[in-house]
Amino acid sequence: MEKGSEISEVAESLRTAHKLLFITGAGISAESGIPTFRGKDGYWRQHNPMELASPEGFAQDPALVWEWYNERKAIIRRAQPNAGHLAIAQLQAAIPNTLLATQNVDGLHQTAGSKQVVEIHGSIWQTCCTREGTLFLRDAVDTETEVPPKCKCGALLRPNVVWFGEALPVEPITHITEFILAGGIDIAFAIGTSALFAYISGWAWEAKEQGARVVEINLDPSPISTFADFIFRDKAGTVLPQIYQAMQA
Ligand code: OAD
Repeated sequence: MEKGSEISEVAESLRTAHKLLFITGAGISAESGIPTFRGKDGYWRQHNPMELASPEGFAQDPALVWEWYNERKAIIRRAQPNAGHLAIAQLQAAIPNTLLATQNVDGLHQTAGSKQVVEIHGSIWQTCCTREGTLFLRDAVDTETEVPPKCKCGALLRPNVVWFGEALPVEPITHITEFILAGGIDIAFAIGTSALFAYISGWAWEAKEQGARVVEINLDPSPISTFADFIFRDKAGTVLPQIYQAMQA
């Protein structure tokens, strides 16, 4: 099918849609200048982010891991939501019964105006104590002067993000599962994610089982490509505004 007619078909479905699911990953923020985890821009100073974002990596060299997070925070602080983030926020405003499950920790969806955002991997703007679990919200602690930063209790602080090999937070996951299992999702979008975690492709699959059409927008193939109804191998910041504009036409 021609790309233009696929855009029209998705837009047509959106006009009568009542419930949407968005699943996003690092690819949606790539056009805002934030490096993805995998792929050609993934490495940081020869380090594999998959090793840095892990309990083992932190135990081995907490200062290195914090340097990486502080650098990411600096990049994100300068970043702006891109056309893809903004188009999702517009689609959500048009069809309010939506849920946005993001693997990103940057907060750019919220800056773009998205509502009902579930951050399944936590937030880079939050910090927590490795001993007592005390949570510190945005800018409540300085993580840059002393690296690695420490809690008042003397224990190391860590970013409040889910690391590779760690369990997902229960409440957000229950919320997403219930949203999907309640049925009625018209379209499930999977955007900018390699979908290598089974729960990511599982949510898209379950939505499809419940009757949703699955739309993948991703530069590379993913496990979701094997069952998606529409596949766009193009940038999210290009495709999403086209879909939104076609829906308005
Ligand atoms: P990845 O870095 O694994 O995948 C990003 C995907 O986005 C790739 O498949 C790219 O092809 C695609 N992509 C890149 N730029 C794009 C663009 N402009 N438009 C559309 N697609 C684009 O990122 P995630 O799937 O988010 O978890 O990875 C998930 C998790 O891996 C992260 O949240 C992190 C890491 O382990 C934890 O830290 C627990």
